Amino acid sequence: MGLKTGTVTEKFAMKEFVLTNDNGIRMRISEYGGIVREIHVPDRQGVSEDIVLGFDSIEAYEHNPAYFGALIGRFGNRIAKGKFELDGVTSELATNDGSNHLHGGLKGFDRVLWDGESISGEDFQGIVLRYRSEDGDEGYPGALDISVTYRLTNGNQWIIDYLASSDRPTILNPTQHSYFNLSGKADSSILDHQIQINASHYTPVDANLIPTGKIAPLDGTPLDFRTPESIGARIDAQHTQLERGNGYDHNFVIKRDATEELASAAEVFEPNSGRLLEVITTSPGVQFYTGNFLDGSLEGKSGVAYGPRSGFCLETQLFPDSPNQVNFPSARLNPGEKFKSTTIYRFSAR
Ligand code: GLA
Repeated sequence: MGLKTGTVTEKFAMKEFVLTNDNGIRMRISEYGGIVREIHVPDRQGVSEDIVLGFDSIEAYEHNPAYFGALIGRFGNRIAKGKFELDGVTSELATNDGSNHLHGGLKGFDRVLWDGESISGEDFQGIVLRYRSEDGDEGYPGALDISVTYRLTNGNQWIIDYLASSDRPTILNPTQHSYFNLSGKADSSILDHQIQINASHYTPVDANLIPTGKIAPLDGTPLDFRTPESIGARIDAQHTQLERGNGYDHNFVIKRDATEELASAAEVFEPNSGRLLEVITTSPGVQFYTGNFLDGSLEGKSGVAYGPRSGFCLETQLFPDSPNQVNFPSARLNPGEKFKSTTIYRFSAR
């Protein structure tokens, strides 16, 4: 099987890419938003199903408030009041989440046309997506050149490499916003999926989902997933953080050894299909989000109205609002430096 490309529609004059591997995994990606529209993965019987949420037509993605499948940036997650300071200069970003900035603003990476190019190697098929975000875009300082490479390998890994540089000091925190439902049936919830998260700490949030600045232990909370547990087991437990998030919508601090670059962030297992998703990353944090804002108003693939908790996201990232939090990992990118990060989603069935 080879790489297929073609123009999607007249209005959306763009290319789409299909990546396949030797084990029957197939991904469909659009230049619009770098959106991953489909990921077909065999279950334990070898039956392939699409395990990501999205829309049937590319036009529908023009209204994609949930960011299904999209690339996110320049800054994934929230920046309080859309403001931050760099070298004594305050930047004001577009605010699109109450008074806060979320996922890059009004026209983030999820809504722009990327320039895609097919690549392949002995063990993978892939694409490189390139985009130049001009100085002042959504309020961000500096012109930013970014490339995102997606590779699908015969080892059943979807590898994402982010590479970027800027001509002025700026901030950057790109991520990928795929929603998974490993059952392949998005009309069912993800509450019986079992998740394990490799974190002993997280960054608690205030009522607007902005971090309080604390890096708090997970011990004794319903957010502690060091031991695998179903997503639904404690999601409605009485806990301020779960009330604020209306479920899980939190940044977990990934545990890694000093020498470990790529660390395991999380594993999710779906018992009926046997599908397993592993997330491995160089990023310090991962946002575990259980689709709490989905309310049935978005009509997804095959006419399914996506309800709350019909998909989950594991968005690898720096910590939310890090430009305003001195004790969080820095999002600063200086001219002459290269921003690099890698995240791997690995699929299997057992
Ligand atoms: C992220 C955020 C959520 C929500 C979704 C998009 O996961 O953490 O609060 O904004 O994106 O709906």
